[in-house]
Amino acid sequence: MSANLLDGKAIAADLRNHIKTEVEAITTSGQRPPGLAVILVGDNPASQVYVRNKQKACEEVGFLSELIRLDAGVSQDELLSLIDELNQREEIDGILVQLPLPKQIDEETIIERILPTKDVDGFHPYNVGRLVLRMPLLRPCTPKGVMTMLERTGVELAGKDAVIIGQSNIVGRPMALELLMARCTITVCHSKTRDLEGKIRGADIVVAAVGRPNFVQGDWIKPGAVVIDVGINRLDNGKLCGDVDFEAAREVAGWITPVPGGVGPMTIATLLENTLQAAKLHQVS
Ligand code: GUN
Repeated sequence: MSANLLDGKAIAADLRNHIKTEVEAITTSGQRPPGLAVILVGDNPASQVYVRNKQKACEEVGFLSELIRLDAGVSQDELLSLIDELNQREEIDGILVQLPLPKQIDEETIIERILPTKDVDGFHPYNVGRLVLRMPLLRPCTPKGVMTMLERTGVELAGKDAVIIGQSNIVGRPMALELLMARCTITVCHSKTRDLEGKIRGADIVVAAVGRPNFVQGDWIKPGAVVIDVGINRLDNGKLCGDVDFEAAREVAGWITPVPGGVGPMTIATLLENTLQAAKLHQVS
């Protein structure tokens, strides 16, 4: 049996089309388009690629998009002042500070300074707390994008055993909260987890976010399981691969995401969704 492919590229294109249509309706009615400010500190090559892709996506759907590049040596106070200024600006609905930040800057302090209604990454403690309490407002993009993909499979989530590999603030933890909200039974695995393989073998849904190429073996997957690969790893030969041994896993799984073309495009499309949502929050207030 070969798994159904969960085509993130196609689902993301569909989301972007819907967003573009909504933006056209907003601007036709005389309102301003949603606006996103992206702050990039330093010259981390991976961050530069991510930021460029985010900007391109914004322009494509008709958002106002502003990129602010800061020197790697910028002080925390300077970055905080910039956020204060963007918090005040009426035409900016979303503020995204690309992570990681240089070591002189405390990420939590920066994230907490962003107005929660402009926190399109969903990383502010206010937004994380709302997700914990099952009353989400702005939700972290990657886990929310994964939920959109899961909905498209038509697979009933309630009661399923979901295993998440990785406990980061960006993916693992909010992913667990999303799946719990969908009434899955969740297991969050990390470097101290015992018998990881056994846990994965029992899972109806596996979300891999470890950052280790081909870490999850095909024969660990339960037949028919949904396999979501959040990993984007660059191999020595320059090729991208995920955290799951795709070729082996696709023979066993019911649904599987490819890398590239799986979760990656969904993260960016969901950022657009969040920015549109933030714009609506600001237009009614
Ligand atoms: N760095 C890696 N992923 C992300 C993300 O989703 N948002 C931000 N701001 N930085 C990141």
